[in-house]
Amino acid sequence: MDSETLLARITDYANRPNPYPLYTELREAGPVVQQADGSCLVGGYHQIAALLHDPRMSADPRTRGQVTHMPPFLRLDDPEHHRLRTLAMRPFGPPHSPGRVDAMRGEIDRITKELLDTFEAGQQIDIVDDFAYPLPISVICRLLGVPREDEPLFRAWSDTLVAAADVRPDEDTSETDKAGDQARTEMGGYLVNLAEQRRGKPSDDMLSAFVNEQDPALRLTQEELAETAVLLLIAGHETTVNLITNGVLTLLRQPEHLEHLRRDPGLLPQAVEELLRYEPPVHMRERIPLADIDVAGATLAQGTSVILVLASGNRDPRRFHDPDGFDPTRPDNQHLGFGSGIHLCYGAPLARIEAQAALGALLSLLGTARLVQDPPPYRQNAMLRGPRHLPIQL
Ligand code: HEM
Repeated sequence: MDSETLLARITDYANRPNPYPLYTELREAGPVVQQADGSCLVGGYHQIAALLHDPRMSADPRTRGQVTHMPPFLRLDDPEHHRLRTLAMRPFGPPHSPGRVDAMRGEIDRITKELLDTFEAGQQIDIVDDFAYPLPISVICRLLGVPREDEPLFRAWSDTLVAAADVRPDEDTSETDKAGDQARTEMGGYLVNLAEQRRGKPSDDMLSAFVNEQDPALRLTQEELAETAVLLLIAGHETTVNLITNGVLTLLRQPEHLEHLRRDPGLLPQAVEELLRYEPPVHMRERIPLADIDVAGATLAQGTSVILVLASGNRDPRRFHDPDGFDPTRPDNQHLGFGSGIHLCYGAPLARIEAQAALGALLSLLGTARLVQDPPPYRQNAMLRGPRHLPIQL
């Protein structure tokens, strides 16, 4: 196997519709596969899970001298990460309580229905643009307290930021990085401004909760508020779009499972978990070892860029029976779709509710729908992978 070019092949746009055979190559090539540029890929489930829990693996890009601005808590290590994550979670309510996210259920159903009501029998629609894209952005904007008329602003910012967050070996990324920095600054400025308008006038949204926190020890600085709000919007948006779209694509490709779900919608929560394993929206995450780390006899050298290929771990036959099969009744499905360890997805409960509501609402419509283009056109991004469009005929 030509391991030097494996990452280049994974990120090659031509392989976006089906990167899974490359992940098989990766797992077979060893626990750690070194690339020509010195970076390393890890594709086995057990190794990835162990590394995600290893405090010697840093998520902070400043460890390698990249990035000057303060990263959001997704890319911070403890104890800084823990402090910000805890503060950012406070407006969601105490852990394990129904809280704000559960209160969003009715709102999510309403937004879903509003979108579906615009479709007509016989029409061709784009699942991405007409359904999967508008839903999560409306939900996260509602949760944060962004007025409806400003939602379109987020689409442009979000596209630019996601392009800047991609993994692109051997490419000059200075232009996309610059555009990403500018979008982050603009979006952060907008959100801080919006939060300031709520100071002293608490309402039930998250920005208001952040800015009206009474305890000074629990208050975010303005920079932290901007970074956290931008993180919630981006992390909570692009990923959920891809989960819903991947769900529609998978069910239309495998109508027997669509039929099964239509007969037994109680299976939806399990089907969503299986989608997070089988077609996860987040394919890889980067970490940087703070010391030399031994992984099944191979060494991850301190300071190297290590790419943990979560989507490969999800298809590892050493962990999952028949890993390339989509099985909504799969027992013991502890996938890596939401990551693991201290950075385990903060928005997982919300993402689950959204995907279950969206796919549940689509079930009857999909029964007579067909894919117009298979494979559909994909987004450029290899890390946050998903179709750019998914045209279907109703
Ligand atoms: C299907 C939808 C989603 C998927 C697949 C997903 C996936 C992930 C993954 C894999 C991570 C771990 C990243 C790492 O270890 O480096 C993560 C972290 C995170 N996610 Fe999600 N996510 C989704 C939806 C959401 C939503 C709706 C929100 C916000 C409301 C959100 C907010 C976050 C945040 C803030 C983090 C960072 C957590 C930390 O560093 O402690 N995500 N997500």
